[in-house]
Amino acid sequence: MNTKQIKFDNSEFDSIDISKLNEISKFPCDIFIMLSKNKLIKIFSENDLIDHSRLINLSTKGIKILYFKKGELSLESNNTSNTFEKNYIPLRISTLLANKVVPFSIYYLNTDEALTLLFKEDSTITDEQLNDLKTKRIVQAFIDDKNEQEYQDYIDNNLKQIISQDNLAIEDKANIIGNHICSKLENVMADTNEVNLKKLNLVQEHFQTFIKTNTESIGKLIKILTKDNQTIYNHSLVVGSLSYVTILEINRMREDETLSSKVKMFDEYTLNSDEIKNIIFTGALLHDIGKIILCIEKGLMLASNTLPAMVPVEVIHEHSKAGYEHLKKFKSVHPKALEIVLQHEESCDGSGIPNQLPKTQISFYTQIISLANYYDNLTSKNSLPCEEALNEMEKSIIKFNKYLFPIFKKVILNIEHHLPS
Ligand SMILES: [Fe+2]
Ligand SMILES: [Fe+2]
Repeated sequence: MNTKQIKFDNSEFDSIDISKLNEISKFPCDIFIMLSKNKLIKIFSENDLIDHSRLINLSTKGIKILYFKKGELSLESNNTSNTFEKNYIPLRISTLLANKVVPFSIYYLNTDEALTLLFKEDSTITDEQLNDLKTKRIVQAFIDDKNEQEYQDYIDNNLKQIISQDNLAIEDKANIIGNHICSKLENVMADTNEVNLKKLNLVQEHFQTFIKTNTESIGKLIKILTKDNQTIYNHSLVVGSLSYVTILEINRMREDETLSSKVKMFDEYTLNSDEIKNIIFTGALLHDIGKIILCIEKGLMLASNTLPAMVPVEVIHEHSKAGYEHLKKFKSVHPKALEIVLQHEESCDGSGIPNQLPKTQISFYTQIISLANYYDNLTSKNSLPCEEALNEMEKSIIKFNKYLFPIFKKVILNIEHHLPS
């Protein structure tokens, strides 16, 4: 534990690394720091409550060693560097709000690769503390994985405020809301019930508002979601987002005299109400839930709650029907969203699954989602660049609604055009 011993004022002192104090809340003895060679000054008294953010402040000023009178402090070695990944999950500092109580302890990874307490459970974080972290470029922290639900609830309760922070970059906002909606989706897919569905619905409403008010955010969000290995949750959110932006584009064209004739054939479909947008978004988010249901039944789900790399052909064939059967028990899933789940692998040329429906029997809303789903499968699973994927789809235009495709294509090119490389 001790790094060195010194003598001062005829007393012997032991030293301890600041990071070793992360599991105690009170100083059991007087604590000193060294100002100059062998000169100590008392900074905390016995029984003082430990203000961990103050310790971090000291640490970042280069004061990493504290001193105490020999024998007065006895702590177990607390090296968590090799074990934290098993027990802790990351938290983005940008999701923390000033003057709000955080109902869980937050840790950060110090330079010695050990987790150090940053904020103790139930602390109220100040603006000053958040700015301090920002100055030190500490963007990620950790929480005990037992507190994951509390963290999700914290974001649920404060999401609107979190993503409307003026000083937060749009990428950060997209990242926060994207990750949050994916965790809600993961909850629904692992345990579908009315409460989880309702929570998903609430977050997706915020998400839609976010996209509507930050037009450039969609491209950034999609880039974030497709950057690493794409999970079924990311895929579903990309499909929902692309479908949503396509609907916004149709609505925009409807209102533009010079473009309205190009969308006249869709006049019979309501697309501008929040309710219908929400239904379509839900359908998109849940469209592949059948893959999870079937892979769980077959014992194929990976421990990380993700699908196996190779989903068996029979799962591919049966997943739309399985998803529909699973979701129809829940009142909060609208019949039109259910229809999307059942029909999303159908093709306008009648070659799709599960029922080889002709175009006239595939709902218009599903036809929008099919485009987004097909496109994301080509670009993510098959790693095709955007233009190639669109060309591929153009060659198979018979599978899609030929009036919708040019609008979808425009949406994609717009997004790609605005994406920084
Ligand atoms: Fe699918
Ligand atoms: Fe899909």
